[in-house]
Amino acid sequence: MDVSTQQLKKLRDFIQTHIGVFIDDEKLDNIYKRKIKELLVKNNYRDFDSFYRDVLRNQSLRQELYNAVTVNETYFFREEYQFKTLVKYIIPELDKIRPPTEPINILSAPCSTGEEVYSIAIYIMEEGHYIKKRDFMLLGIDIDSDAIKKAKQGIYSERSISKLPQHIKEKYFKKIGNQYQVIDQLRKAVSFKVVNVMDKHTMKRLGKFDVIFSRNMLIYFNEIHRREILSTFYNMLKPNGYLFLGHAERIPPNLKLFKQIKLGESFVYKKE
Ligand SMILES: C[S@@+](CC[C@H](N)C(=O)[O-])C[C@H]1O[C@@H](n2cnc3c(N)ncnc32)[C@H](O)[C@@H]1O
Repeated sequence: MDVSTQQLKKLRDFIQTHIGVFIDDEKLDNIYKRKIKELLVKNNYRDFDSFYRDVLRNQSLRQELYNAVTVNETYFFREEYQFKTLVKYIIPELDKIRPPTEPINILSAPCSTGEEVYSIAIYIMEEGHYIKKRDFMLLGIDIDSDAIKKAKQGIYSERSISKLPQHIKEKYFKKIGNQYQVIDQLRKAVSFKVVNVMDKHTMKRLGKFDVIFSRNMLIYFNEIHRREILSTFYNMLKPNGYLFLGHAERIPPNLKLFKQIKLGESFVYKKE
């Protein structure tokens, strides 16, 4: 069965409109054509048009499509300097200015298979002894339901945890065959949910956050969607809250919402 370039472009537009991810011509032809064909075969479609018609009306097929086209690359302690900034500068500051009964809420959007959220939890558990009576709420969201399922299971390969120091591996993981599962104490400290960051209504219902990590997703978005998502994050942050982006991501210069500051080795964006 063949899928034409025109059909692929129609699907690409659909994906971009709904989840923001833009796929360039080269990747569309070299990588995504194969992925889409596999999806059609797996779901017993004989032609593209009937597949596309069902994508429009069938939520679970749409979800399968999103799961197939998203890039989930992540690992424990990725861009670790940002976690150092979080525990050394940001949490102590928030701990002083927030009422003692209020939890510090941290959102990872997107969290992919969960490594980022667990890394934050490990950093807080390891380095946060100075905070005596403060609850933390750590939430990871992602559009990819397979990734969220994996995040909830918390089972990882050797490669995924390769950046962790040995004592951290021993303290926070138990070995199952040739894989590693995060210990229950860590799993209970975090939660995960399938959410599309483009869905403003659902995003708003997640509540207000002190810190948002949004690393290595906006690089796949165009300028218009990037601005929209950054405004959503801005509205979800509490005053004096912070946003972390991936090292290749920037706030567009004419979007004057956040103040960029350097804390330790990280550039962070503050809502004032
Ligand atoms: C490369 S991973 C980044 C994971 C992690 N933040 C890190 O930096 O290691 C990008 C993730 O963005 C997610 N994503 C893409 N579009 C999304 C959307 N509209 N809503 C939520 N997540 C999305 C993908 O499913 C993928 O898991």
